[in-house]
Amino acid sequence: MITIAIGKGRMQDSALALLARAGIRVSDDAVNSRRLALVDESGKYRFIFVKPADVPVYVEHGIADCGIVGRDVLLESEADLLLPLDLGISRCRIVVAAVDANAMTKVQGMIRVATKYSQIARAHFGARGIPVEIIQLSGSVELAPALGLADMIVDLVETGVTLRENGLTVVDEIAVSTGRLVVNRASYQLKTEEVARLVTSLESTLNGK
Ligand code: PRP
Repeated sequence: MITIAIGKGRMQDSALALLARAGIRVSDDAVNSRRLALVDESGKYRFIFVKPADVPVYVEHGIADCGIVGRDVLLESEADLLLPLDLGISRCRIVVAAVDANAMTKVQGMIRVATKYSQIARAHFGARGIPVEIIQLSGSVELAPALGLADMIVDLVETGVTLRENGLTVVDEIAVSTGRLVVNRASYQLKTEEVARLVTSLESTLNGK
């Protein structure tokens, strides 16, 4: 059996839909339950549902053989994983946003950046030689500029509604993020056939075969 860790939340529905198209299905009852570990109808795959940021942790430690997780999470993680496939699901952008589109030139002194993505933010501003103070938050980041906690945010944008409804505008785009299949290095060696079967069926589904 192969264990696949899936990030709860934005990734979960699209990951399960893609897996179903690839013939790997879990019953609706199981999906709608609050169980955090489920086995698919064939009995060949076990799914565990964890916080997105924990997917690389479970896979790197070999508790899960594979994972489905956004590139945003992988950019923040230092886990050593194989990344065989871009699944193209749950597409969103990682952006810098502020109240004023010209905020980069207007902020006096050190720019304060609120974010859940401190590594991504540090790397982005660092590469441009812009000194920033990173303010680490765990959610509702869009509130920070209006409340005076930060000058800018680095966050995910999917539809853009959250930014708009909180009076923010995109200042810069850092990266596009989509769901990725990640694989534990040892599982890739020890469960070669099973992992290859999963990769091939997902790949064929993505290519419309
Ligand atoms: C993300 C992100 C934004 C929102 C953007 O949060 O942090 O708040 O989605 O989506 P939109 O552009 O479609 O409005 P998420 O739903 O992952 O929740 P979280 O902030 O609690 O992590």
